[in-house]
Amino acid sequence: MSDHKKEIEQAKEKFGELLEVQLNRVDQLNEEADFVDFNNKDEIVIGIVGGDGIGPYITKEAQKVLEFLLKEDIDKGRIVFKEIDGLTIENRAKNKKAIPDDVLEELKQCDVILKGPTTTPREGDKWPNIESANVAMRKALDLFANVRPVTIPEENIDWTFFRENTEGGYAVGSNGINVNDDMAVDFTITTEPGSDRIIRAAFDHAKKTGKKKVTVVTKANVIKTTDGKFLEKAKEIAKEYPDIEMDDWYIDIMTAKLIDPKRREQFQVMVLPNLYGDILTDEAAEMQGGVGTAGSINMGKRYSMFEAIHGSAPRMVEEGRAKYADPSSIIRAAGMLLDHIGYSNEAKRLQKALEICSNYEKKLEITGRKDGATGSEFSEYLMETLSDPDLDEEYLRLKALSRLDD
Ligand code: IPM
Ligand code: MG
Repeated sequence: MSDHKKEIEQAKEKFGELLEVQLNRVDQLNEEADFVDFNNKDEIVIGIVGGDGIGPYITKEAQKVLEFLLKEDIDKGRIVFKEIDGLTIENRAKNKKAIPDDVLEELKQCDVILKGPTTTPREGDKWPNIESANVAMRKALDLFANVRPVTIPEENIDWTFFRENTEGGYAVGSNGINVNDDMAVDFTITTEPGSDRIIRAAFDHAKKTGKKKVTVVTKANVIKTTDGKFLEKAKEIAKEYPDIEMDDWYIDIMTAKLIDPKRREQFQVMVLPNLYGDILTDEAAEMQGGVGTAGSINMGKRYSMFEAIHGSAPRMVEEGRAKYADPSSIIRAAGMLLDHIGYSNEAKRLQKALEICSNYEKKLEITGRKDGATGSEFSEYLMETLSDPDLDEEYLRLKALSRLDD
């Protein structure tokens, strides 16, 4: 029995260290400044992070499209691109760090970041089992809101998920405690300011976009302390938004209701703790056409990062097929970036051009292989479409035609 005493003491000591880090984080949250106002900024630095595998190939195409759309303001010096190369799995493995220090310094010089996929090592593969670069970046730059829109117009589905991105099971996800060989403990963390800001962001979004309902998803009937806190906070904040209805669901039944055709079109904005958000957004994206079709914003008050949520497809690179990789998901993320920094007209044009090129007109087909178009041919096609002064009319015409085909 005395054995256990020692184990408990050791675990307590580690637990104390974890709590200290988390409490310091909360202190910082409480002093945090408000969102950056991009309209009042003379210079906006866009970081371009290729990442791994097909990442650098598709990211380069997205950068070309951004350069095309922002040409005027690039020439004026208002928009500056900063290419950051060091976030590869080789360099992360060499430094044994999810984000090497010099790379983090470079990231902090940007306002917004466009990021290609990065390999997440796991036990047993050829890389050291370091923390995911995604998770590390969300924490290091405090990107607390993971905003994932999912729309399926033909089924009347228009959802926006606000997934808390820095807390819950992820906050100390790589630093759990092996108390002894028989028992491991992980922690889930919910804080007052952390819950406040994500829930508020969801309600503000609903208000701004004219949505009428915010759905809070937890498992507060069982995980009473942390999820309970999240739900309580939501009820409190909902009172400040009398025009928006709030309802709450548990994660298990929510995964079921998302595939219930009668119920699902009623959901609009959803706000949820980290891990539930991770799971539910994959489910939702699959309905939209696959996880590769969803874009994702990792938003903070100071920095924001935009990414394609598919993987780095190392096999495509090994087989020499990287140039055939489909860049449309990261280009869609680039569109969300444009919208975020105040170029909403350019974002709308890009959205229309993407729909024309990928759905309505589809002069090129990307298959991921030699028989399909390359990513660079696709981005050329997209920019040609964007150059059309009658893009808006063309879009409506092709959309109507495609309806007739159905
Ligand atoms: C996501 C991914 C990440 C997560 C992985 C790559 C660590 O699944 O962005 O949803 O779990 O958050
Ligand atoms: Mg996920």
